[in-house]
Amino acid sequence: MAEKNEDKQVMMEKIVSLCKRRGFIFPACEIYGGFANAYSFGPYGVELKNNIKKLWWKKFVHSREDIVGIDGPILLHPKLWEASGHVAGFKDAMVDCKKCKKRFRADHIVEDATGEDMEGRLEDMTITLREKKIKCPNCGASDWTEARNFNMMFQTQMNGIEDAVYLRPETAGAIFVDFKNVTDSMRVKIPFGIAQIGKAFRNEIVAGNFIFRLREFEQMEIEYFIEPDADWEPLFEKWLELQEEFTREIGLRKEDVSRYEHPKEKLSHYSKKTIDTMFKFPFGVKELYGLAHRGEFDLTQHSKMSGQKLEYYDAENNKRYTPHVLEPTFGVERSVLAALISAYHEEEVKGEVRVVLKFPKAIAPIHIAILPLSKKDELSVPALEIFNNLKSKFICEYDETQSIGKRYRRQDEIGTPYCVTVDFETLNDQAVTVRDRDTMAQERIKISELENYFKEKLG
Ligand code: GAP
Repeated sequence: MAEKNEDKQVMMEKIVSLCKRRGFIFPACEIYGGFANAYSFGPYGVELKNNIKKLWWKKFVHSREDIVGIDGPILLHPKLWEASGHVAGFKDAMVDCKKCKKRFRADHIVEDATGEDMEGRLEDMTITLREKKIKCPNCGASDWTEARNFNMMFQTQMNGIEDAVYLRPETAGAIFVDFKNVTDSMRVKIPFGIAQIGKAFRNEIVAGNFIFRLREFEQMEIEYFIEPDADWEPLFEKWLELQEEFTREIGLRKEDVSRYEHPKEKLSHYSKKTIDTMFKFPFGVKELYGLAHRGEFDLTQHSKMSGQKLEYYDAENNKRYTPHVLEPTFGVERSVLAALISAYHEEEVKGEVRVVLKFPKAIAPIHIAILPLSKKDELSVPALEIFNNLKSKFICEYDETQSIGKRYRRQDEIGTPYCVTVDFETLNDQAVTVRDRDTMAQERIKISELENYFKEKLG
């Protein structure tokens, strides 16, 4: 068991190192010594992330007649967060080690040591930490402050606004406040959804596990409005299946994905059901996505706070009502991390280890690499011509540096499904070698047929 955990840690280290070495993900502000567990997405990371977001938008907005998209602001009216309950209730329990001064999530420390989930019970956490003499994971001491609440919203100031302004802690808020605008301007018919992709900010007590828990991250969320007396359970199940389907589209193995239903007694008073889609990360089975039945809570709260009616008018039956909502929510960075972990493979080829990211083609950062065998004009000129022809249809990269073996290795490590090699034979037969990332099989294809060949392969 211990060995297995070590293996998992080693795998995580390998992924983090590959991400930096190959331009996927860099620690932010490294020249200043790094900053607060934040990360930048490098040239391949941003392609991977954008491809995941594009796939999501295509699946949940463009391919459906019942969902429309919006792009709301990050800075929103302070009353919104009062109405949603975030000002009063968006908090986690923190505790400090008096010896090393390090800060932790109190519920996490207690749960790791005792297996008991004490979320929300501050006093019990303090008693348990002290009575069970739970050790600080950093220094091993057992000298804790009291567990206390910490609001996770980032607060800022805005010219001309007296109230505290917050960076949005989730994208959902921006959707609810645009409910009226969307229903007034679009011909949406219930059930319908409003989707959004964007940044969210949470002042997490402990960020970490690479890009799993960040303070600045992106969400892809849908508020799916349904009739209050609709038969919601089949719809809820359908959304769960769609979330799981999406995990497969970004390359996650079925056996690594599971469900966790929040116990009824822990649900908010307005929620009928919440189920998380879990992924087997190397550091444990953790939440990847969420799905919640939120009843009419959000629209009712915003209606009360704003004084505006937020209702749906059913013209066919001439009735007005406040819809209920199902909320499927997806984390972008957690999708990226799960996709990287699932794609990572080490294979032995001719006595050497080949590292290859076997991304599904739709999310691979680069689709096709065009590689002239030599830098000489006689090969680089036709190779650049091929690059220029293909680059408007596919994401392509041109690379003429280093030996062809090293270039294949590099493309395997960034997960490029196809390499096109222009060699001296090309000058005679007007054909190139196309190498498949997964099988390493090579095929000779006429230059004139390349575009159709890749259209078929890459869609
Ligand atoms: N509107 C509902 C909502 O925000 P959530 O479970 O708090 O629900 C939704 O967050 C998703 O956002 C999570 O399933 C996860 O994928 C992602 N997420 C949440 N906190 C995160 C963090 N600190 N860093 C990275 N991703 C996070």
